Amino acid sequence: MLYHMPTAIIFGAGKVSELGGVVQGKFRSSQPLLITDQGVFKAGIVERILSDLPAIPVFDEIEPNPKYSTVNRGGAIARQIKPDLVIGLGGGSVLDAAKAVALLATNPGWIEEYEGRERYKNPPLPVLAIPTTCGTGSEVTWVSVVTHTEKRFKMSIKGSRMYPAVALVDPDLLMTLPPHLIASTGLDALTHGLEAYTSKPANFLTDVLALEALRLIFRHLTEAHRDIKNNAEAREGLMLGSLLAGMAFGNSDVGAIHCLAESIGSLYDTPHGAANAIFLPHVMEFNLPAAREKYAVVAAAVGLEGADQDNASHLLIQKIKGLSRLLSIPSFRDLGIPEGDFDLIAQKSFENNSNPSNAREATAKDYLAILKHASSG
Ligand SMILES: [Fe+2]
Repeated sequence: MLYHMPTAIIFGAGKVSELGGVVQGKFRSSQPLLITDQGVFKAGIVERILSDLPAIPVFDEIEPNPKYSTVNRGGAIARQIKPDLVIGLGGGSVLDAAKAVALLATNPGWIEEYEGRERYKNPPLPVLAIPTTCGTGSEVTWVSVVTHTEKRFKMSIKGSRMYPAVALVDPDLLMTLPPHLIASTGLDALTHGLEAYTSKPANFLTDVLALEALRLIFRHLTEAHRDIKNNAEAREGLMLGSLLAGMAFGNSDVGAIHCLAESIGSLYDTPHGAANAIFLPHVMEFNLPAAREKYAVVAAAVGLEGADQDNASHLLIQKIKGLSRLLSIPSFRDLGIPEGDFDLIAQKSFENNSNPSNAREATAKDYLAILKHASSG
């Protein structure tokens, strides 16, 4: 059994106020580069955080499903200003982009040349990751996912030196997150926990993390969605759940839900969290023959009492469907994806490097059947 996660975690409400001390004390950084996006900027978070630091350069052009061209532009800026630290402030897209920019700052060429595992020669710059959503997990994983827009493909850039050096996780940063993003990123975290727990590489240590993540997310997601601004307990519980789920899937893996979500994300730019939430119950139904026992354990952990494993699994799937409805997650049909594209989506999902980790073996034909089932229901 192996568990590896070298990121130092600083967690707690208000902890972001310690940023200056972390940057100048722990990192002894005199030239950090901040990577963020327009949404975080408009929420006033950048301004608040920068008031703690001397003037630093900011690259705020990261879009959802970050494009390789944007990351390469960030890399060129990093090579020009030669920072000694990259700070990522945002959701999963920003944190993934920050890791990729840190790699390009110390290595030549374009980000697409580094797709795969350990393809870089020089260690990337240290990354300080500050999540502003409750779903990414990227603050504690070794992967950066970047979209190759021409190839309509999500590249995974992985390496043992890609883990952020520090994750500064402050639940109060969720206060300004709009409800639809709490819903989609919260359900992304739930998917991380569920796939980490049921995927083939899971072990005892990732199981402990995944189960506790699921308990926290089920307990707090609805309340956080209703009124995150005035509910400190829900903010903290959801952020902790998201963090634990990231620590779980970072050492286990995700599965078929993420394979489908990444495929439609690369083809139609569907937001990652919403795509996961859409496929979650459909893949669970497909995975039942291989994951029934584990679904029953999750059901018990979140307070569902089934007569037997089969009944408990179905109760869990029903609960997740109800949660999606309550959080106004669209259906697969609402996305308007033409049926003529299903073969391509199925093939891409099958070729995803997390497909072999799925609880039940899934062929391209199986993915096609899941897509048809999702479009009819
Ligand atoms: Fe995810």
